[in-house]
Amino acid sequence: MFGHCCFIFIIYQIIVLVECSLVPILKTVNVLDRSLKFGHPAIPFQVITEDGYILQLFRLPGEKKPPVLLMHGLSDTADTWLVRGNGSLAITLANAGYDVWLGNCRGNRYSRRHVYLDPDNDPLFWEFSFHEHAVYDLPAIIDTILDETGSKKLNAIGHSQGNTIFYILGSIRPEYNEKVNLMIALAPVCYLHNIKPPLYTLFTFIPLLNDFLKKVNINELFGTEKIPGKILKALCSIPYVGYTICIENILFTLLGADPEEFDRDVFKIVNTFFPSSTSRKNLDHFGQIFKSRRFERYDYGVIGNKAMYNSSTPPSYDLKKVVMRIALIVGLNDNISSLKDIDLLSNQLPNMVNYTVSPRKTFNHMDDTWGKNMAVYLFPYIFDLLKEYS
Ligand SMILES: *[C@@H]1O[C@H](CO)[C@@H](O)[C@H](O)[C@H]1NC(C)=O
Ligand SMILES: *[C@@H]1O[C@H](CO)[C@@H](O)[C@H](O)[C@H]1NC(C)=O
Ligand SMILES: *[C@@H]1O[C@H](CO)[C@@H](O)[C@H](O)[C@H]1NC(C)=O
Ligand SMILES: *[C@@H]1O[C@H](CO)[C@@H](O)[C@H](O)[C@H]1NC(C)=O
Repeated sequence: MFGHCCFIFIIYQIIVLVECSLVPILKTVNVLDRSLKFGHPAIPFQVITEDGYILQLFRLPGEKKPPVLLMHGLSDTADTWLVRGNGSLAITLANAGYDVWLGNCRGNRYSRRHVYLDPDNDPLFWEFSFHEHAVYDLPAIIDTILDETGSKKLNAIGHSQGNTIFYILGSIRPEYNEKVNLMIALAPVCYLHNIKPPLYTLFTFIPLLNDFLKKVNINELFGTEKIPGKILKALCSIPYVGYTICIENILFTLLGADPEEFDRDVFKIVNTFFPSSTSRKNLDHFGQIFKSRRFERYDYGVIGNKAMYNSSTPPSYDLKKVVMRIALIVGLNDNISSLKDIDLLSNQLPNMVNYTVSPRKTFNHMDDTWGKNMAVYLFPYIFDLLKEYS
């Protein structure tokens, strides 16, 4: 027992030391600094959802209408759209005169606030999944943008989970279909039948992991506000070895490898803000979709489902109701968003206007936001779509 404690104590001390020694080098990237640096100082907005979460939204003002909303993926933040500086999507759109808005989902470091729940002490704060991002966060964000701009509609670009939530929004709150002129889905995520190994294997462990975390009362995942997140960040920050462990061995293995597009220097930036917090329940919901092979609401078990949905199984999201215009942009080396799963999705979306496969053979799950040459293999398609459907 004593040995065990000692060991943990020593590890903890090492982490504290590593952290302290790295803090001066690793100043966390943030939207306000970076947007200013690249010529489009962002204006922050506070958005309060119907259920009391306080979300941070940023605007890089521009003339063009309708405005463009960018929504990040799982455990990500608005920073992701600025990683590449003048070669990033947010700045490229702003340079072209677009009115750019960057959203943040509840739980991440910009939106870890609530009018009365305390994220550090109230487990109820973390009682959400992507369902709540879709049904509460998105409507609050969209309505704020439309109010501020006087526009009737907006364009949206979502990465990964950032587009999943638009399908749910369109099906559960169909009135929002009319507020979206065009949704461009980068690395689309809906069905998860065909994710590649070893990610596939990891997904089979999510229910077990969830049960364990629930028992030990861990409801917040990945973020650096908590010790496990600090350990991960410290590990990834070790010069040379950090990139090898976190990127070459973990990220590339899980999400597809594309080393040319994701070099050590840009990793240093990404590692300051990614991964950010989300809830255990969110990860669990993805695990359920994978296991049940159905795109459906959170499964609370037979008794919980009866109370929640008046049915023993969770209702499926009805994709027929998602009548907003949707364009899909897909990478061939994306080991989460496989072509087979995206084909399933595309066959069910009633108003899919475009399905583009990027010509880059090694295009992986993260090249949509962090890639070095997005201006070559991604942005032209986005700009064509925005022009075509404006
Ligand atoms: C970004 O700026 C750098 C240096 O000013 C320049 O070399 C590069 O071409 C720019 N990239 C884009 C996409 O504009
Ligand atoms: C990711 O997917 C690509 C394309 O299907 C495949 O060649 C590669 O082996 C996969 N990576 C892993 C680690 O499974
Ligand atoms: C619950 O479902 C049953 C059978 O499907 C139906 O008869 C009943 O009216 C429903 N109750 C509520 C409160 O919707
Ligand atoms: C839509 O998709 C096709 C490829 O499937 C592409 O050739 C076309 O240019 C795309 N863009 C627009 C704006 O139609």
